[in-house]
Amino acid sequence: MIIHDARFLTSNSRADLCPAPALPEYAFIGRSNVGKSSLINMLTGRNALAKTSSSPGKTQLINHFVINDNWFLVDLPGYGYAKVSKTSRAEWAKMINFYLRHRPNLMCVCVLLDSRHAPQAADLEFMEKLGEEGIPFVMVFTKSDKQSTAQTKALLTAYLAKMSEIWDELPRYFQTSAETGLGRDELLDFIAGVNKDWKADAADNA
Ligand code: GTP
Ligand code: MG
Repeated sequence: MIIHDARFLTSNSRADLCPAPALPEYAFIGRSNVGKSSLINMLTGRNALAKTSSSPGKTQLINHFVINDNWFLVDLPGYGYAKVSKTSRAEWAKMINFYLRHRPNLMCVCVLLDSRHAPQAADLEFMEKLGEEGIPFVMVFTKSDKQSTAQTKALLTAYLAKMSEIWDELPRYFQTSAETGLGRDELLDFIAGVNKDWKADAADNA
């Protein structure tokens, strides 16, 4: 897919205030600092489209971007940031749960996981919840430039082994680097394929 246009649309604290669900939507979620905003910039080829930061907790709201006037990319606040209070954590859960349930156009949640880290409870629990709610998701292993290919491969193998203890069928997964652009074509091709299904369904329902 060629990205010829990528624009920031709105930031909202509530899903019911988000743009009308007229386009297929893909949400990026994962622990604080995992690289959600950086990946959005890498995919769109716009360096400062989503705000990034080396300190966790930068993204606080539901941020909609419109790509090629054809689909929405959504940057969500991260979870699992140790310094966050219980109240803020509960607020986050409320916001995200409401968002996940109120976007009929949500085609897929991209769960970002740091490719250097062993499976973490917060991520596994979040994916289980998506499964229970029947929300489609893929796993995206980020920052793979930060270690050797062999190290990433070993971690991915261990991660998939852990997932297969929980899941009968493994979710689809991607390996990315916001630094080198690794995984860009694969992820964009995947999105283009799902967008086609959305169009086909819309035509059937017309
Ligand atoms: P929050 O909004 O705080 O939840 O974080 P985030 O998940 O949006 O992370 P962000 O994109 O802001 O990136 C966090 C830090 O990791 C920044 O310093 C980025 O430059 C760095 N980073 C993100 N992705 C990559 C990557 O693929 N490779 C390398 N080397 N650094 C990365
Ligand atoms: Mg962010």
